[in-house]
Amino acid sequence: MNINLTGKRALVTGGSSGIGAAIAMALSAAGARVAINYIGESKRADRMLQSIKQQHGEAISIQADISDHKAVVSMFRKLDATWDGIDILINNAGIDGVSALGWKADADAWKSVIEVNLFGAFHCASEALKRMVAQKSGVVLSTTSVHEEIAWSRHSAYTASKAAVSMMTKTLAQEAAPYGVRVLAIGPGAVKTRINRSVWDNAKRMKNLLGKIPLNRIGEPDEIASMALVLVSDAASYVTGRTIFVDGGMTDYPDFSHGG
Ligand code: BGC
Repeated sequence: MNINLTGKRALVTGGSSGIGAAIAMALSAAGARVAINYIGESKRADRMLQSIKQQHGEAISIQADISDHKAVVSMFRKLDATWDGIDILINNAGIDGVSALGWKADADAWKSVIEVNLFGAFHCASEALKRMVAQKSGVVLSTTSVHEEIAWSRHSAYTASKAAVSMMTKTLAQEAAPYGVRVLAIGPGAVKTRINRSVWDNAKRMKNLLGKIPLNRIGEPDEIASMALVLVSDAASYVTGRTIFVDGGMTDYPDFSHGG
C-alpha cells in the first residue's frame, strides 16, 4: 500500500523524541509538512528538522507546553501563519509521572500528569477541531496506551489520564463525524523509548515485561509510526472513535494462556 500525504499539514506534539519523533519522520516520508512540538530540548527538535530536510521534507519546530492553554493557542496561530491551518494532529506528548501508590502519591505530581496527558491533549484537539470542522476535513490521532484498559499499580494518574483521553476521543469523534473529521487513538504497549528505559535496560525487569507480551518482544517506535500513518491516511477513511492497540498482544491478557 502506498500512503501519500503530499501537502498535508501535520502537527506532532512531543515530536522531538520517542514515538512522536518516529511518527513525525514517517509523516514526512509520506509527503506531509510536519510541525514538531517540543517542550524543552530544542537540540533534539533541531536534529529532527535536519533529518527531515535530509529526506527533502518540509518542517518547522514549535516550543510549547501543551498543558498551558495560552501556549497551545499561540502554537496553532503559528501553524495558521505558516501553513494556513492543519490537516493532521498527532496528539502524542505525554508523561508517565512519579511512580507511587495512590495513598502515598503527591497531589501536585498526580495533577501534573493529568494536566499534560489530558488537558494538553484536549487543548490541542480543541484548537485542531476548530479548524478541521470549518474546512470539513482532518484527522486527530491521540496516543493513549494499553493502560487506558489495563490497570497499572503505582501509576493511577497515568492510567486515569489515558482512559480519559480514550473517552474524550470517542466523544469528540461523535461530534466531528458529521463534518467528515475523524478522531481516533492509537494505544501502544511496551515500546523501546526513554520513558521505559529503566525496564528494557534491566534484565530481570525485561524478563518480567516479556511475560506480558504474547509476541515476546518489546516494540519499536517505527512499529507505532507505521500504524499511525495508516490511521491518518485515507486507508483508514472509515475508522473513527476507537483506539487501535499496537501492543504485541498485551491487551490479549496472555496470563490466560495458562487457564482461567
Ligand atoms: C508506558 C510504558 C510501559 C507500557 C506497557 C506505556 O504506556 O508508557 O512505560 O512500558 O505502557 O506497560
